[in-house]
Amino acid sequence: RLDVTEIFHGILFPGHLHTQDSLQLALKFLFQDTDVLIVSYPKSGTTWMQEIVTLISNRGDPHQSQTIPNWTRAPWLEQYYCADLLKTSTSAPRVLTTHLPHSLLGPALQSSKARIIYVSRNPKDVLVSFYHFHKMANFLPDAGSFPEFLKQFLDGTLHFGSWFDHIKGWTSQAAALNLLHVTYEEMSLDLHGTINRVSSFLQRPLLEHELNDCVKHCSFSSMKDNKMINYTLIPDEILDHSKGCFMRKGVIGDWKNMFTEEQNRNFDSVFKFKMQDCTLKFEALPQSLQL
Ligand code: A3P
Repeated sequence: RLDVTEIFHGILFPGHLHTQDSLQLALKFLFQDTDVLIVSYPKSGTTWMQEIVTLISNRGDPHQSQTIPNWTRAPWLEQYYCADLLKTSTSAPRVLTTHLPHSLLGPALQSSKARIIYVSRNPKDVLVSFYHFHKMANFLPDAGSFPEFLKQFLDGTLHFGSWFDHIKGWTSQAAALNLLHVTYEEMSLDLHGTINRVSSFLQRPLLEHELNDCVKHCSFSSMKDNKMINYTLIPDEILDHSKGCFMRKGVIGDWKNMFTEEQNRNFDSVFKFKMQDCTLKFEALPQSLQL
């Protein structure tokens, strides 16, 4: 069985990718000030940001993106199969990825100058993307019906924990961290501007033609065709490609095809309640993220 669950500090993780040891190691990870850490709740645009960072590091040249899988280029801190890679990685800057909440990873990052890119997405689209992903990912539990899945998302009981705690935890610590917050919606609406912003944050300014090359190679269609990033290298027993596609739709607002009016009203009221103590000002975010 692939869908075993590891419970770590009260949060469920797929045991196929995580062990108690690998999760514990992430908490003790020794960050270097030159590290770049991509942080996200699943289905928020993690893979897209991994690609953007790789392309920026290579000044728009797609060779590395097309020859090395993303999990090797930007390994997950908490996943056990990345442990050896993390130990031996000598490239500077190291590019790392995590889905862990700030409550778990915060202590390891205390007083670190590592550059953190926090990627968020409209939670309704995260939920719909995650629902479809559960259907193809054999290492995740059965998604159940959409209303059941929606309830678990709102209750924060899905694998990887609560979306609400994740975004509140990381964004409330933004001032203490060297953190850039990027939304999926910004990437969709202005990929060129977003890559420019990320490259400035990484202090890797690009020439205009290099920036345009980055835009070209991290478009949805380019990434969908790139087997080093579209997860088709993962065997069917683990990701059942007959049941879905990792690079599924890549759009803003697909939630509107799934939510009933009542589900939407309920989501909005839970959102309002759970986000009332959020320091992040949603009014400052693109319209698309304002629910
Ligand atoms: P959908 O399921 O809505 O299509 P993550 O990498 O965090 O798991 O997120 C996966 C989601 O990001 C999927 O969303 C995927 O299609 C989308 N995505 C990945 N690359 C993208 C790109 N270049 N453009 C638009 N969406 C992209």
